[in-house]
Amino acid sequence: MKYMDACISEGLRHWPPAATTDRMCVKDYDYDDGQVNFRITKGQYFVIPIYGLHHDEKYWPNPYVFDPERFSEENRHTVNTKAFCPFGLGPRNCIGSRFALMEVKAIVFYLILNFKLEPNDQTQMQLKLLKTPFSLRAEKGVNVRLKLRK
Ligand code: HEM
Repeated sequence: MKYMDACISEGLRHWPPAATTDRMCVKDYDYDDGQVNFRITKGQYFVIPIYGLHHDEKYWPNPYVFDPERFSEENRHTVNTKAFCPFGLGPRNCIGSRFALMEVKAIVFYLILNFKLEPNDQTQMQLKLLKTPFSLRAEKGVNVRLKLRK
């Protein structure tokens, strides 16, 4: 179950279902990290690029490689928690995150208990994403063959 947890975290990093979230600024804010500076004014909306943060080499070596070991017990503490936000951050983050994680783990558990998942002739290797602005979807869908175990 620990490895499944690492795989699900890495899946949410590599393919965050919500590629962005947004906020409205409630008071003027000056951002300055020594290299970039700008002002966000009260009332302005801005987009938080979850997908971009999850693929920034500053935080993730080889960001386009699917590597569950990033979230293993030994490595988990090296994850920059501000650069990993599949459920958003702060007081308005996802209210359903725990439910979603429990649900997906139950689904994966019963799927791989009963089936082997194999590529079929429609499986896109490497999987490519549709160039849509909001939610992340696979260009040609996610096609796998489910082979009953036993
Ligand atoms: C893998 C599944 C899910 C992902 C990746 C996801 C992701 C997100 C993200 C990124 C946000 C915006 C948070 C922010 O801006 O800080 C959000 C908000 C929210 N999500 Fe989810 N979500 C998932 C499943 C669910 C489920 C199962 C529920 C309900 C049972 C749910 C209910 C909500 C609600 C109500 C909000 C708005 C919270 C607020 O504005 O205070 N989500 N979710």
